[in-house]
Amino acid sequence: MTVGRHATIAGLGSHLPERVVPNAWFEGLVDTSDEWIRERTGIAERRFAADEEATSDLAVVAARRALEDAGVSPEQLDLIVCATLTPDTPIPATAVWVQRKLGVSCPAFDVNAACAGFSYAIATATAFVESGAADTVLVLGAEVLSRVLDFTDRSTCVLFGDGAGAVVLRRSETPGVLGSLLGADGRAAEILIIPAGGSARPASPETVVARDHSIRMPAGREVFKRAVVEMAAACRALLEKAGHTPDDVDVLIPHQANARIMVAVAERLGIGPDRAVIDVAEVGNTSAASIPIALDRAYRAGRLRPGQLVLLTSFGAGLAWGATLIRWTHA
Ligand code: ACO
Repeated sequence: MTVGRHATIAGLGSHLPERVVPNAWFEGLVDTSDEWIRERTGIAERRFAADEEATSDLAVVAARRALEDAGVSPEQLDLIVCATLTPDTPIPATAVWVQRKLGVSCPAFDVNAACAGFSYAIATATAFVESGAADTVLVLGAEVLSRVLDFTDRSTCVLFGDGAGAVVLRRSETPGVLGSLLGADGRAAEILIIPAGGSARPASPETVVARDHSIRMPAGREVFKRAVVEMAAACRALLEKAGHTPDDVDVLIPHQANARIMVAVAERLGIGPDRAVIDVAEVGNTSAASIPIALDRAYRAGRLRPGQLVLLTSFGAGLAWGATLIRWTHA
């Protein structure tokens, strides 16, 4: 890191599509109930994008809000990084579609680390800023997961929602992002996977009939356990590296997958539920978008104040996970 070159969050924004899908909607599709979904996940409703809305359409609204909040014009951007597992198109990257919609010209690329994508994207953007390669970066997490759900599979279709979150990361004299920790374990790749549509199993009439372009989670309980273990371990290791303990954390924002997972992570860290942001009830699991959406909603609800120590942590397919420690500077 160049001396005096740090990165800090200077603006935030998020956007959820209009259509609200309550749990009861799934009762007509699969053998489930509002009660089961609420009890096992903490989710009451989620939003689904309209047919004509793609991931970049949600992302660009969040981006404009974050830019406005930061007082930054799109022309000032040096880079756009978008975390997503549901890109508008395999190529070009969703970040490039966003760039086009913002009407600017700057480098733009996507990061895919599934539900851990935002941790990877903010770590990448921070490295660009700290190295001097960029001063102002738009970091996005955006998903239209409703396009990759199997609405005959009750163990997955009830979990996810669509949405986008954005932060503007800027060069600063004092540190905002204090550090990141990333991890992955490909040995468990099959327990959370979209099996078809890539080079291993390209799209074919058979893959479409088998619904293999949808999220598969054959071992939900294992995913649950690994999520708790890895997020808590990543948080501990990152805090230790930064010379902090869980007691120092003012606000913990875990990936918004499932309220029970989040409570378990906070418990493992000894962080009381009052210090954790659990905001999955109206949003569902929006994968790479979940942390920037929760961050923006917490910020706009007045939960984040300058000087606070904010800890973000994520987990998803890969398996992949991450943690980000931030000294909050944005009023
Ligand atoms: N409605 C009713 N019953 C259901 C539903 C549903 N929507 N989904 C599963 N069940 C049933 C199962 O079929 C099973 O029935 P059986 O006992 O007759 O076989 C029973 O509920 C218990 O299933 P489990 O999977 O053991 O239930 P569990 O309490 O573990 O909850 C859940 C399931 C919520 C999916 C949990 O495993 C979980 O949260 N896993 C992590 C999943 C997750 O968040 N994945 C998202 C991507 S990864 C990430 O973002 C972290």
